[in-house]
Amino acid sequence: MPPQPPRQRVRESFERAAASYDDAAVLQRQVCELLLAAFDPPSPPESILDAGCGTGYGSRLLRDRWPAARIIAVDFAPAMLSIARPDADLCLAADIAALPCMDACFSSWWSNLTVQWCDAGQVFREARRVLRPAGQIALSTLGPETFTELRAAFDGIDRHRHTLRFSEPADIGEGLSRAGFRDIRLHRQTIKLHYPNLKSLLRAVKDIGANTVGDGGRSGLLGRRAWQRVQEAYEQHRTDAGLPARYDVLLAYADK
Ligand SMILES: C[S@@+](CC[C@H](N)C(=O)[O-])C[C@H]1O[C@@H](n2cnc3c(N)ncnc32)[C@H](O)[C@@H]1O
Repeated sequence: MPPQPPRQRVRESFERAAASYDDAAVLQRQVCELLLAAFDPPSPPESILDAGCGTGYGSRLLRDRWPAARIIAVDFAPAMLSIARPDADLCLAADIAALPCMDACFSSWWSNLTVQWCDAGQVFREARRVLRPAGQIALSTLGPETFTELRAAFDGIDRHRHTLRFSEPADIGEGLSRAGFRDIRLHRQTIKLHYPNLKSLLRAVKDIGANTVGDGGRSGLLGRRAWQRVQEAYEQHRTDAGLPARYDVLLAYADK
């Protein structure tokens, strides 16, 4: 699994983005709905942990689908959790890699677009620990084709990292298997969102708090000429719908 940015920086970035998150989280909502559509536990879950709940969109969908389930929402950014609070029975400010929960206490473990920020192996072991025997895990994350156009536009402009290091689907499958999950089902789907220009695309990423890239990221602003070259390079991808941003969406389901 690829190394991820320092936890503290990721947390601060999401904490700052809580107020702008809902208006910008277009991809997150689409993926959440896809994740739910293919989540089919054998019986209605009694309790569901929403790991990295953000502002609570997933908790809301889970509640609509299983009104009798107890929903426990977890996020390490308190500002996100305070928005999610009405959608969950209990909110926990905690790291999903080290949950303050007893062993075997949830029937389902759910996570939408959060695992890419974490040490996935550690998160999967922790998920298995808190799941009851035969409990289900359902998660979405992003694969390596995410932001291909963005990386290509910066190619040759600078040597900095402009996106996270995303996991291969096989690594997600192996991580789940090593953590002890069985009957692992993986789905992969490309989603393209379109933006009027590069500035609005980068703004949308920042507004959801996803602008921390870890080691090798740029700390200062790009010079005016370099920025123009990046824009020109990205413009080559423009379609009638606008400038595309590609998301390589991975959905994974498994049983304990
Ligand atoms: C992209 S948002 C997704 C939020 C929500 N699941 C949704 O679909 O809208 C990722 C969320 O995960 C949280 N997060 C990231 N890493 C975490 C960790 N290790 N422990 C707890 N929360 C984490 C962030 O604070 C943020 O709210």
